[in-house]
Formats: sequence, C-alpha cells, structure tokens
Amino acid sequence: MAVREIKTYPEKVLKQKAAPVENIDRELQRLIDDMIETMYAAPGIGLAAPQVGVSKRLIVIDVSRKEEEKTPLIVLINPVMKEADGEMESEEGCLSLPGYITTVKRAERVLVQGLDREGRPVQIEGEGVLCRALQHEIDHLNGTLLIDRISSIKREFFKKRFQKALSKA
Ligand code: NI
Repeated sequence: MAVREIKTYPEKVLKQKAAPVENIDRELQRLIDDMIETMYAAPGIGLAAPQVGVSKRLIVIDVSRKEEEKTPLIVLINPVMKEADGEMESEEGCLSLPGYITTVKRAERVLVQGLDREGRPVQIEGEGVLCRALQHEIDHLNGTLLIDRISSIKREFFKKRFQKALSKA
C-alpha cells in the first residue's frame, strides 16, 4: 500500500466525469488499498478516485472519526444514487480544496447502490455524516466540487482567496 498524492483544485482531473470501473482486478485492488491509506493519512473521511488522479467511479468512506455510531469502512465501485430525500445544510471541507470549509445544502437521506471491492452488489442507506460523505464523494465522480454547490458570491470570494494562494506559491 502507498499514500498517493491528492490532486487539488484547479487540476483538470477533478472536473472530469469519471468512467465506470469495468474490471475488478489486482490493479483495482491496489488502487483501493492506496486510496484507503491516503484517506487515513490525510486524514479525511472520504476519497474519490479522481482525487488521486484516476478518473474512475470508485469511492472510499470511513466516517467513524466523526460519528458516535461506528460505521465500517465503505468501498463502493460504480455507485449510483437511487434515492435522495429531504434537505440539510452543514459545513464541509474537501481534501482537494485544502483549508477551505463552507456550508453546503445536501439531501438528508440517500440510498446508494454499487459494488463492493469483491464485485458484490451492495446498498447503503445514509443519514447524517455518512449521507453527506456519500453525496460529496459521488459528486467528485461527476466532476462536481464543493465550490460548484455554493452561491456565486461565495464562489467569487473563494476564487479571489485561491488566486492569492497561487500567486504566493
Ligand atoms: Ni472532496
């Protein structure tokens, strides 16, 4: 296993729609292991394959750091949002937008289907932190970032702040 470099805004891979995973092979298992290690090392509660530069529909989530109720580590291949109900608003950050935290509106309950790392169909129903993480990571597979979900005024503010950071680099 190895910690991979996390791609940050404005890298192009983060804006691409990721392709479905077609083969659950050894290479994919290595990618999954690396993503898990990268997520824990960050530390973060979720990671999508495009964030390590691989434009494939694969996410890992472990919200146990942020939740009383211990949800085990989730690996989801080709996740599909089957249901999304209600609305909630809360603060989110993203490993690809280091240091940036903003309030985002999300569904308050989702039902997601996909495959586990062995290729078995799984269905996950999420509320609370898990629900937000599922929506956030699936967004990454569609090239959608946190900053695409905020008001245009907040986005302009973000861009100004980011340009400042870029010019300092
Ligand atoms: Ni993110």
